[in-house]
Amino acid sequence: MISVFQTADTVRFGPGAVEMLPEVVGAFEGTKVAVVSDPGIESAGLADRVRDLLTTAGAHVWTFSEVEHDPSFETLRRARDGARAFGAELVVGVGGGSALDVGKMVAALLGVEGEARDFVGTGLIPHKGRPYVAIPTTAGTGSEVTGIVILSDHQDHLKKGVVSEHLLPDVALVDPTLTHTLPPVPTAASGMDALTHAIEAFTSVKANALTDALALGAVERIVQHLETAYRDGTNAEARAAVMEGALLAGMSFASAGVAAVHAMAYPLGGRFDVPHGMANAMLLPVVMAFNRPAAEARYARLARQVGIDTGAVASDAEAFVDRVDALAHAVGMAKPLRTLGVQPDDLPSMAEEAHAIRRLMDNNPRDATPEDVLDIYQTCYARDAA
Ligand SMILES: [Fe+2]
Repeated sequence: MISVFQTADTVRFGPGAVEMLPEVVGAFEGTKVAVVSDPGIESAGLADRVRDLLTTAGAHVWTFSEVEHDPSFETLRRARDGARAFGAELVVGVGGGSALDVGKMVAALLGVEGEARDFVGTGLIPHKGRPYVAIPTTAGTGSEVTGIVILSDHQDHLKKGVVSEHLLPDVALVDPTLTHTLPPVPTAASGMDALTHAIEAFTSVKANALTDALALGAVERIVQHLETAYRDGTNAEARAAVMEGALLAGMSFASAGVAAVHAMAYPLGGRFDVPHGMANAMLLPVVMAFNRPAAEARYARLARQVGIDTGAVASDAEAFVDRVDALAHAVGMAKPLRTLGVQPDDLPSMAEEAHAIRRLMDNNPRDATPEDVLDIYQTCYARDAA
């Protein structure tokens, strides 16, 4: 079997990486830059910082800062229309995964005919659009190194994915100092999202040697440092380790894919507005327990990566699942579903919806029937509060 590995063309990682923006943008043709961001990034002053760096480099800047979490097709269209009217020649996305996804799709749509809805699915964008530079301000989504955009459809309340090699960013500027002011809750949610990416990629049926190496590095960094970053946001070492872990996890799942946890998180985001990382965090230990019979050796390998060694594969695997569950509790992300506005009557249709997301469910190491998916939701519904 031929494995595939794709990532951003260039990744610049390290404290102060954002200062390289003038040089990075100067390497592309054109001076009209669309900056795509969100209100939180504006009020934190990060958008100003990016605009200053761009104008210093001689660029003309237009900004769209209205990206909401779980962005909609309508938001994307407004961003694309504004960027087109401005005559944008390249796009810079700055923010969490939502802003980075919208920026990524705007850059693509500036180069092709059609609307985002025309490209929902895998491999439907015909060619590359405008150059795109991604600057993440959270350590989690990995959007800066993936060819994936997730948009919320307000007509049917489903999340829809656009997947294409032509969405891979040209440059990712990954600067851990940008996360130092991120509050504890989004730190925990995005960190658990990244851990989910790494674990699901490592146990995906599409995993290969390259994605394995990246996932192992990601799990080690996130498991060992996320709690510190959550408790002490200015701890530069922990912030850098978690951001590097999230980057490695993004590079891994961009090719290996994610699986049942992400499929089951979609209805929670689409219908109940549960933040993506929080939804993943509550599902992850329960899905891992379900997957364990099919993924025991893989979980044992991850266990050894974080220093667990009980002397036997089965107990190493069990201890790793427990370790992930303990981490979710330690960072306040192990909330039972019943505390998030979900009713027992909602669970069967959620299970049906998640089971139908074959793009993700087919990557899962253990085949999950609709009844299995419902069982997992019921366990998450009833579990003890964090
Ligand atoms: Fe995710």
